[in-house]
Amino acid sequence: MASILVCYGTGEGQTATVADRVADTLTDRGHDPTVVDASDLPSDLAVAEFDAVLVGTSIHVGKQASTVTSFVTDNHDALVARPTGFFQISLSSASDDPERRAEAAGYVETFVDETGWQPDRVGLFGGALRYSKYGFLKRLLMKRIAKDATGDTDASRDYEYTDWAEVEAFTNDFAAFVEGRLGLTPSVGDT
Ligand SMILES: Cc1cc2nc3c(=O)[nH]c(=O)nc-3n(C[C@H](O)[C@H](O)[C@H](O)COP(=O)(O)O)c2cc1C
Repeated sequence: MASILVCYGTGEGQTATVADRVADTLTDRGHDPTVVDASDLPSDLAVAEFDAVLVGTSIHVGKQASTVTSFVTDNHDALVARPTGFFQISLSSASDDPERRAEAAGYVETFVDETGWQPDRVGLFGGALRYSKYGFLKRLLMKRIAKDATGDTDASRDYEYTDWAEVEAFTNDFAAFVEGRLGLTPSVGDT
């Protein structure tokens, strides 16, 4: 069993939901995940005490959550010293357009350049449009972003694009990588 820190940054909650699914998948596999919100880190959090770390963030206006960037910068040395993964939630990754999807990969490249942290595994997932939660201006902005990304501009309803099977597959792949690095025998669900 590996102790795995899952640190996420979210705006409207979708990345928190993905982080919870990641943690459930790790638990099902026999690991011990700890989920923390990058905007509300426990004062006694010691990244170096974990066997492995997953970092997750959403994209808002082309950028990762600033709390996540700070977490990665502040814990750079501990991150590069252990197995790590990164997952990113965006509307670009929900698009069928290869150019939009490449945009999401570009956000990761910029993040790696800025932080100097190269995760061992990267997962790119579609996010959600929560028109019901947006104020007037944010709804206008999101209708414009959605027009190009997914075409879903009907603000009378919400949309979720996250492929949960992809999230679980990414998590299991990361867990297998960690098990290999730590010389662990997988306990449940690995084939
Ligand atoms: C104000 C705002 C700006 C956004 N900007 C982008 C963007 O530039 N590119 C993109 O792909 N998705 C963008 N999105 C979509 C979010 O990444 C998506 O809604 C995601 O599910 C948000 O996750 P969260 O609830 O964890 O913050 C934006 C969303 C909001 C609300």
